[in-house]
Amino acid sequence: MTPQERILELRRQLHEHNHNYYVLSSPTISDFEFDALLRELQGLEDAHPEMYDPSSPTQRVGSDISKGFKQVAHRYPMLSLGNTYSKSEVADFYERVKRSLNEDFEICCELKFDGSSISLTYKDGKLVQAVTRGDGVQGDDVTANVKTIRSVPLVLKGAGWPAEFEIRGEILMPWKVFEDLNVAREQAGEALFANPRNAASGTLKLMDPSEVGRRKLDAYLYYMLGEELPAEGHYENLMAAREWGFKISDTTRKCHTLEEVFAFIDHFDTARKELPVATDGIVLKVNSLRQQKNLGYTAKSPRWAIAYKFQAERALTRLNEVTYQVGRTGVVTPVANLDAVQLSGTVVKRASLHNADIIEKFDLHIGDMVYVEKGGEIIPKITGVDTDARLLLGEKVRFITKCPVCGTPLVRNEGEAAHYCPNEQGCAPQIRARIEHFVSREAMNIETIGPETVELLYNYGVIKDITDLYGLQEEDFLMLPRLGKRSIDNLLAAVKQSCEVPFERVLFALGIRYVGATVAKRLARAFGNIDALMNASLAALMAVDEIGERIAASVVGFFASEHNRAMVEKLRAAGLKFEIEEAVMQSRTDILAGMSIVISGVFAHHSRDEYKEMIEQNGGKNVGSVSKSTSFILAGDNMGPAKLEKAQKLNVRLVSEDEFLQMLAAPAN
Ligand code: IVH
Repeated sequence: MTPQERILELRRQLHEHNHNYYVLSSPTISDFEFDALLRELQGLEDAHPEMYDPSSPTQRVGSDISKGFKQVAHRYPMLSLGNTYSKSEVADFYERVKRSLNEDFEICCELKFDGSSISLTYKDGKLVQAVTRGDGVQGDDVTANVKTIRSVPLVLKGAGWPAEFEIRGEILMPWKVFEDLNVAREQAGEALFANPRNAASGTLKLMDPSEVGRRKLDAYLYYMLGEELPAEGHYENLMAAREWGFKISDTTRKCHTLEEVFAFIDHFDTARKELPVATDGIVLKVNSLRQQKNLGYTAKSPRWAIAYKFQAERALTRLNEVTYQVGRTGVVTPVANLDAVQLSGTVVKRASLHNADIIEKFDLHIGDMVYVEKGGEIIPKITGVDTDARLLLGEKVRFITKCPVCGTPLVRNEGEAAHYCPNEQGCAPQIRARIEHFVSREAMNIETIGPETVELLYNYGVIKDITDLYGLQEEDFLMLPRLGKRSIDNLLAAVKQSCEVPFERVLFALGIRYVGATVAKRLARAFGNIDALMNASLAALMAVDEIGERIAASVVGFFASEHNRAMVEKLRAAGLKFEIEEAVMQSRTDILAGMSIVISGVFAHHSRDEYKEMIEQNGGKNVGSVSKSTSFILAGDNMGPAKLEKAQKLNVRLVSEDEFLQMLAAPAN
């Protein structure tokens, strides 16, 4: 055997042993023998650099130090999942799926692993890239670090994998590794990790892959994406992936009824405690990829999946003080300052009290023993008070009547729980938060200005509101500490660059209450430019799909303010885009103008969301239920019998998928 052949043979054997040990947990040779083979391979590779292969088992050691991570765009965005803590909402999800599909379906039940999500790309059976979730659109390229994770195959086994595909999953630090790591850190006087999730994501972001290798991370995969997947079912694809060497949890099951789904949930609510890694719920996914496509997506998450999260732990601790925070829109939030307590792996010292009503409801007194829970949000909340433990009655907590920062009397709108500080133009935390929102990535994307810089610029009086950003000069920075020439140049360049941001994001950046990114997009498309929007009546706003009275009133109120109008004018003069781009407008037509269209059934060419978008792009309105004023029903296969009957009764026309596409391709004249 030539050295070259021996290298190939050793690589094959070592890949196999890695898989046996880290994926199947059943090694067939001792660690000692494994190390001997690895050392032999390393020696041969050193002597034959022409045989270098980034997928070789020796590359897991990851000796090269990377400097920062490259940002990589995800080919398919990494969405999150809608989640719930209630079984009745799981039942609602199931019913919704059943109603929308109107045909048999299977639900794949999986554990929800609590680590750091990752997307792996394989080309010709080799791992070529590993990217973190990041903001869902782009993430960090952490390939060198991920290669050190022994359960991630560098080279696939077997056959049948697509030439190129992505597989997504969770990088985890097993409990045992986590505990040992914290013991070692404690001894070394280093900060402890609060939970395995933080430890896993912290480890993944280390600049030194060899240290990552020592941390013994693990990876479970649960989602395959690509053009030529082996099967039409999600579960079947995972089973194929298992054959190729991936670690797929053997707890995954296909269910055919809601009862089976509940049985799975109940079983793992306890059984999960015995698992070697952290889990925080169950994920339910519609199994068929065709049905998934039909159900489509909301702006943030798929309609074909949902996460059921296990009830968070509860802890009892003492309330020491209530402080108040003022947010971007002036809402004042009471915050409980607590004796530090451990809660599902993290140390909690502060918790939200939401609003005055909650303080009243619990009749809170300083010194009370209160229950803290982690709900769906990141910030824990107070869920009760142990009145039996009330030995000495401390001072009763009373919601403040004046803004804690500027002293303005607070107001409370009819029917709302929140108190506001109405001093929009003069209350520092509101102004700072508005600037932070304005420069944020989803808005004007002036990334070089983080919260600290905003604080600095504001506190030194360099900027008093967002419009001042566009008048910034290099001299303005002379008296500021901490900012070097390069940072200043970058900052000014980023401000200038932001003039290219499209209208819908400028609109979002203005920070109108209730106008999030999606609503801003709708308004921008519906009105085309800021003048039309500024002068729109309540009725005109409410005529836009999915814009209700609350949003419409907020928009009208915002533009009724002289100050806000003046701000728009200043921004316009600075060169910001206040009308929708020609290209976006041009792709719009009036083919469906004035029509109300119901979508029903299952489609072959596009998803429901795509059809919805097409209807809107062509001037129509998508409505949910059939009525006299429905113009027609875009009818796919298996349309619901109730809808069909109603359509016949009301004499509403059915338009097939193909007819509809033809309508849009060839406008009637
Ligand atoms: S599926 C489009 N399956 O939970 C759906 N996610 O909020 C893609 N997660 O970011 C996700 N276990 O990091 C899926 N079995 C599982 C999961 C899982 C954990 C994480 C994942 C995702 C988040 C969703």
